[in-house]
Amino acid sequence: MSVKIRSVVAREILASDGSPTVECRATLDNGIIGTASVPYGVSAGAHEACMLLDGNRNRYNGKGMQKACANVNSQIAKKLAGQPVENFSKIDQLMITLDGTPNKKRLGGNAILSVSLAVARAAAASKKLPLYTWIRKTFGLKYPSWSLPKPMMVVIEGGKHADDSTDMQEFLFSVHGAPSIAEAVRWGEESYQSLKRVLKTQGLNTNVGNEGAYAPSGLSSNESPLALMVEAITKAGFRPGRDISISLDPAASEFYDKHSHTYILKREGKGLTSAQMVGLYQEWIRKYPILTLEDGLAEDDWDGWAHLYKAIGGSVRVIGDDLTVTNVLRVKKAIQKKAINAVLIKLNQIGTLSETIDTVRLGQQHGFWQVVSHRGGGETNDPFLVDVAVAVNAEYIKVGPARGERVAKYNRLMAIEQELSARPHA
Ligand code: PGA
Ligand code: ZN
Repeated sequence: MSVKIRSVVAREILASDGSPTVECRATLDNGIIGTASVPYGVSAGAHEACMLLDGNRNRYNGKGMQKACANVNSQIAKKLAGQPVENFSKIDQLMITLDGTPNKKRLGGNAILSVSLAVARAAAASKKLPLYTWIRKTFGLKYPSWSLPKPMMVVIEGGKHADDSTDMQEFLFSVHGAPSIAEAVRWGEESYQSLKRVLKTQGLNTNVGNEGAYAPSGLSSNESPLALMVEAITKAGFRPGRDISISLDPAASEFYDKHSHTYILKREGKGLTSAQMVGLYQEWIRKYPILTLEDGLAEDDWDGWAHLYKAIGGSVRVIGDDLTVTNVLRVKKAIQKKAINAVLIKLNQIGTLSETIDTVRLGQQHGFWQVVSHRGGGETNDPFLVDVAVAVNAEYIKVGPARGERVAKYNRLMAIEQELSARPHA
């Protein structure tokens, strides 16, 4: 007998930066409940699904999400009541159709995603399956085994995530040489702690930004974190490039000037063309153990991306984030332009679980790495993204090394590792 949705109820909760976000509780007719919440970014791409905000300046500076919650509690609740959860994709499709816009701006991507994830959780619980197993089964994902995602930890952050740090947004440790996930997490965290000592020795402060990474003021250049990171890895007892490599997410849309078509690096007092940016990255790749480069250029600089990929795609993974926004259409365009060989996956960029899995599938058909990511600004304690990453055998999860909403993800990943080692054929 099929299990049906009895109700979906949304409410505002607080995200990690103290502004509201949406949490949804889905109840099935067998009494099983699933709850999920959605994050948001501070350097969100222009092509992401719409995050519906109230815009009422008298509440949370316009950032309330009562409208999104009301859309769940009225229109979406009415549409989904009585729907069987076995046909999960249909539930997402019903919401997409009900919204009727290409970027979910009528009901809000935040409203729709909260329901999609809460129903998924309830459906998994109803089947007594771990969420990651349920995702695999539900979407017919077939892999030879479980291959857990490795940590990609943000350890220095700047751009929109901090004041007076680098122009480039994120510098990360990608841990790939460890014998287990728990060890990989330890190696990453110990190198992050080691970086703190390196920064202090240099007289730099170790205050943290949005994602729990250090955001020192007074760094001399956008390149300077790279040498500090190599030193930190070495001092922690690991081999740069062998055990732990460097990943970069400049989030270049944020410092691209559309009028002059240049990338403004304030630290260096320079404006670089797209070609000069590519030259800069090539130089860094020669000097440092760089594994991946995400959003090295702006989200609509397609010709620049094609040039970038040609120049470095043979030696590093070129990741689209703002470029591709977890959207099949944008990933298709990136394939056609030969712009990337890896995709950042953020559930709220597209707004349903089904569409997220479609994007992963498309990328994997082309041999692209999958990096499932947290959001910079408003994260929640919900580790849903980790179950997605495990379900799709993603190569990495990109998550900050500290703060409760970030470590919740690593803690979930380590719990899954333990669970799977007890039941490897789950
Ligand atoms: P966000 O940035 O603040 O938009 O989530 C994170 C990223 O660019 O990866
Ligand atoms: Zn990014």
